[in-house]
Amino acid sequence: MSKLPNVAIAGATGAVGIEMIRTLEKRNFPLNSLRLLASKRSAGKELEFRGKKIVIEEMTEDSFEGVDIALFSAGGSQSKTYGPAAVKAGAIVVDNSSAFRMDPDVPLVVPEVNPEAVKDHKGIIANPNCTTIIMLVALNPLHKISPIKRIVVSTYQSASGAGAAAMQELEDQNKAIARGEEPQAEIFPYLIANNLFAHNSPIDDNGYCEEEMKMVNETRKIMNDDRILVSPTCIRVGIPRAHSEAITVEFENEVTVEQARAAIESAPGAVLIDDRIKNYYPMPIEFSGQDDVGVGRFRKDLGFNNALSLFCCGDQLLKGAALNAVQIAELL
Ligand code: A2P
Repeated sequence: MSKLPNVAIAGATGAVGIEMIRTLEKRNFPLNSLRLLASKRSAGKELEFRGKKIVIEEMTEDSFEGVDIALFSAGGSQSKTYGPAAVKAGAIVVDNSSAFRMDPDVPLVVPEVNPEAVKDHKGIIANPNCTTIIMLVALNPLHKISPIKRIVVSTYQSASGAGAAAMQELEDQNKAIARGEEPQAEIFPYLIANNLFAHNSPIDDNGYCEEEMKMVNETRKIMNDDRILVSPTCIRVGIPRAHSEAITVEFENEVTVEQARAAIESAPGAVLIDDRIKNYYPMPIEFSGQDDVGVGRFRKDLGFNNALSLFCCGDQLLKGAALNAVQIAELL
């Protein structure tokens, strides 16, 4: 691409879409023009980019004429319908949905882990699942010391993963509880305020939910190693926008706590928070709105040989979605 690209955001009014606009602005992404697309409901409204108002357009198959890079975050069915139309019009699609992630022709990319995969695209590049991205930013620096054999992970996932309406639902429920009123659950199946529950994605025949199977399959694809064993438990918690994960990771050879801390300290996209004396480790409130993934609470695992346990936190809307997508666009 010799000239500056024309960029479109599909799903610009959503929780991730808004962060895509902010991230392009914050990173001073070089572009010629920005087109904002959403549903008919939002057409005609305006959003600001670099101090100028941009009118939101209804997304149709004709929306991608002249577009070089299309960042999609409007849900899987919109990606399936309009993604191929965008490619046909000549755009490269960076898709935040799960629609194309496991397609062998579609690279699945975390720029800190497998940036080289981008060049194999045939028009679509997939942005991985948010929980998987955050986990791999924390684990890849350790994998470089000794290959990972097994990962046991429990997640504490924020409301933002279910979109802007779910974030609003959490806020409304918290306010209702504070007023002494009965909180209402409409987006999530159960109350999310003062509560946690198994991740609200459909359950497979094996008893794992879709979110958990994404962690299994996407980890193997991104790390390019089908032998990695992943045992996930995904939980939704009443936190607005940062995911946390408790991880035990087994390596081929011993990795010491000191080696792990040093690796995180020099890893791109990660920051070490590991103070045993103050009992100070990554917390979702401190990583909300942050680009980096917080990693710490390293200890030699007591249950497996050659294993460490750790804790990490990352902003679901940023590194888990919008920031990773913009970083992929930067690689292009
Ligand atoms: P809209 O705001 O007009 O409904 P979230 O994940 O936060 O719920 O956001 C979903 C995003 O996807 C929003 O920008 C939403 O636009 C957009 N979207 C949903 N359905 C469609 C559709 N049929 N066509 C285009 N954009 C859509």
